[in-house]
Amino acid sequence: MIYYRKIPWDNLPAIQEKTIAYLTTKRPDILNRAVDASYWTMHDREILKWVPEINAGAAKYGLVCDYTAAFVMHRNGDGPLHIDNFKFDTRINFPILNCVGTRTQFYTGTTEDGVRHYSPMGSTAGTTVKIPKTASTVLLDEVEVDCVTVLRVNTAHSIWMPPNAPKPRITLTLGFDKDPTFLLDADLSSLNTV
Ligand SMILES: [Fe+2]
Repeated sequence: MIYYRKIPWDNLPAIQEKTIAYLTTKRPDILNRAVDASYWTMHDREILKWVPEINAGAAKYGLVCDYTAAFVMHRNGDGPLHIDNFKFDTRINFPILNCVGTRTQFYTGTTEDGVRHYSPMGSTAGTTVKIPKTASTVLLDEVEVDCVTVLRVNTAHSIWMPPNAPKPRITLTLGFDKDPTFLLDADLSSLNTV
């Protein structure tokens, strides 16, 4: 099973800069975590107007973004083992701030093992399912999301920050009109990206 893939995406530095500008200007509640939550669904998708490079890049893969959320992490407890219970098996994640040195780790575990958790911020994904880590839980793979990365969010995963890591760690986790799972093993060699 392939759990993730780092994929080319034009203008990532501009995406990072404009996302920070958007959060600072329009969503300081997210940037500063006005409530103690890490997962923030942005239902209005206004960020896509501020950061047109997201959908410009998605077009190269035949995708249109239709789900936007920010993940704002201060401590390892903010990214416990869970399954996102999303409509597709994968989303595409963008590192925005302080992601270098962190790890997204994939483990064994199914939704039947877990406890349904309702995001206080009203995730349109509905729920995530928290999975207990036990002696039989096995690490399957891990990735540092230091560039645009397709992730199997419906496989159990947690996010790890090293001790004394700068915070907040911020990623965008984006859903699309089509399931991006095909990108995990697609031939991308003909793509013209910078
Ligand atoms: Fe997740």
